[in-house]
Amino acid sequence: MSQTALSGLSLDELWMPFTANKAFKKAPRLVASAKGMYYTDVDGNEILDGTAGLWCVNAGHGREQIVEAIARSAATLDYAPGFNLGHPLSFQLATQLAELAPGDLDHVFFTNSGSEAIDSALKIAIAYHQARGDGQRTRFVGRQRGYHGVGFGGIAVGGIPANRNPYLPYLMPHVDHLPHTHWHRREFLQQGAAGGGRRPGRRARGAGPAARR
Ligand SMILES: Cc1ncc(COP(=O)(O)O)c(C=O)c1O
Repeated sequence: MSQTALSGLSLDELWMPFTANKAFKKAPRLVASAKGMYYTDVDGNEILDGTAGLWCVNAGHGREQIVEAIARSAATLDYAPGFNLGHPLSFQLATQLAELAPGDLDHVFFTNSGSEAIDSALKIAIAYHQARGDGQRTRFVGRQRGYHGVGFGGIAVGGIPANRNPYLPYLMPHVDHLPHTHWHRREFLQQGAAGGGRRPGRRARGAGPAARR
């Protein structure tokens, strides 16, 4: 990253999540803008955004319709409280989601992030069983390696040791984990699998008995 792009910018105060902070700050990678499926960094280089943000910009960056809708919305009503006051659009979106959701999944509770959604869902499940008189139903089952965000509930049902271990004594009780399903060796011959997966049109490498386990 060029010194011009960094001039006057202090990187010390911001603590970045899921990032090796010291390493990042020695060799920072800063983006300045985005359009379609490319970011542009502060030096003007284009970077292909292969993950669509963090899987949340799937319609592409800077889509005119979305930019205009956000601007229109902010200009009309920048914030509508959700406690005891409502906005027609929240109800309209909830109705549309209920129509899309299968079966009798016809009630919607909005949150601000995946982590908040997971912790809310865990609370709703506990409260639901208590309210119908089945307070014995208390166990949650997660998966090893599963990611459910950074709230205390999410890391309890999540299965990533580095995210859980520092907080083990404080996590929700009554949580079990099923084994994960990501077996490198078993998936060795799968097209595109990491560490030896067959590339399209190529013969598999190391296709011996050990690889098939
Ligand atoms: C299954 C699952 N739960 C929870 C989360 C956390 O979402 P957020 O980063 O919005 O808190 C994610 C994010 O990737 C997720 O994939």
